[in-house]
Amino acid sequence: MRYISSGHSHGEKISIIFEGVPANLEIDINDINSELSRRQSGYGRGGRMKIEHDEVKFTGGVIFSKTTGAPIAMEVINRDYNNHQTYMSPFDYDLENYKAVKVPRPGHADLVGLMKYEQNDTRVVFERASARETVSRVCVGAICKQILKQMDINVYSYVVNIGGVEVTHLDLKYINESPVRMPSLVKTKEAIELIDQVKLNKDTIGGICVVVAENIPAGIGSYVSHETKLDAKIAANIISIQACKGVEFGQGFALSNHLGSEVHDEIIYDHGFSRTSNNYGGFEGGMTTGMPLVIRAVFKPIPTLMQPLKSVNIDSKEVSPSHIERSDVCVIPAASVICEHVLNYEITKAICEQFTSDTMKQLVTALNDYRDYLKRF
Ligand SMILES: Cc1cc2nc3c(=O)[nH]c(=O)nc-3n(C[C@H](O)[C@H](O)[C@H](O)COP(=O)(O)O)c2cc1C
Repeated sequence: MRYISSGHSHGEKISIIFEGVPANLEIDINDINSELSRRQSGYGRGGRMKIEHDEVKFTGGVIFSKTTGAPIAMEVINRDYNNHQTYMSPFDYDLENYKAVKVPRPGHADLVGLMKYEQNDTRVVFERASARETVSRVCVGAICKQILKQMDINVYSYVVNIGGVEVTHLDLKYINESPVRMPSLVKTKEAIELIDQVKLNKDTIGGICVVVAENIPAGIGSYVSHETKLDAKIAANIISIQACKGVEFGQGFALSNHLGSEVHDEIIYDHGFSRTSNNYGGFEGGMTTGMPLVIRAVFKPIPTLMQPLKSVNIDSKEVSPSHIERSDVCVIPAASVICEHVLNYEITKAICEQFTSDTMKQLVTALNDYRDYLKRF
């Protein structure tokens, strides 16, 4: 299973080719569109989100609503393209009325991208570095979610920290009604007030989200070589989300404050093996333990500031305020949704690699047989 995407932040569309999806999966397109709108939601997003209203279109790999086993081709039109067409059309552009972006933003891919790809307009870099690319992760993850549903595997996420406003007592029933996806009404209010203040100050703010996967059998992934460790693949994919600066499994960095006797997840047997705790977030030796996967990801404050930091003009080499592009203030709620879909993809990929997966029936049967085997172990 693999996918590749192409397209730009203000380009005509994001195109995705997704290979390795088992045949005979009935695709619920409304479900994919509602995942796309979850990616666009969350308190703290910029005005651009009101324009976009993403919707996926399938152009290959699905016939009579079902996957055929062939590569799936999808595209998501960018409704904001009309406002940028005069310079974002690959061939039909109007350079006379276009002003190249000459001052790279600290924190964005701008400067290093310019140097690496021998460019003289920052737009060439950020049009692809931008998180618009995560549309592809959501389309792919939303298909995987539909595969995982047939195996009773559920992935969800929530936000536990926005700019230091931290949720300590989780009340999960509030996640979906909280505009910042926080499982706490009190902290939601505090976070919203903070985001408003940060916006007034023309600044941006980061935070931490948690993503959880339930009902995954023990033994997905492997310890046998670095390339087969599932925790490593998940960590790499989550850290590749724009602005992500760290990933933790279970207690993560807090484990440094404990003795081994306090944190190793003790083994019990009651109609099958289980654990009394889940300090390692559902992984041992790169394999799932059968406990829920619990992963935390930290996202930095996003780079574009309405009160720009100092930078340098790449032509004149003079000190200049960095480029301003219409931008978000806080993306942590959206980032948590993107993390969900990255996890949906990595789990599905690992399961499809481990079990026979030409068709959905073969895959579900093989996984259920394996679950039965584990019960007898
Ligand atoms: C959902 C989401 C939305 C984002 N929106 C913006 C934005 O509006 N403006 C911005 O400067 N950065 C935004 N970013 C972050 C940049 O894309 C990112 O910082 C940049 O590509 C550099 O990559 P790095 O931070 O991983 O090093 C966003 C990130 C995410 C996850």
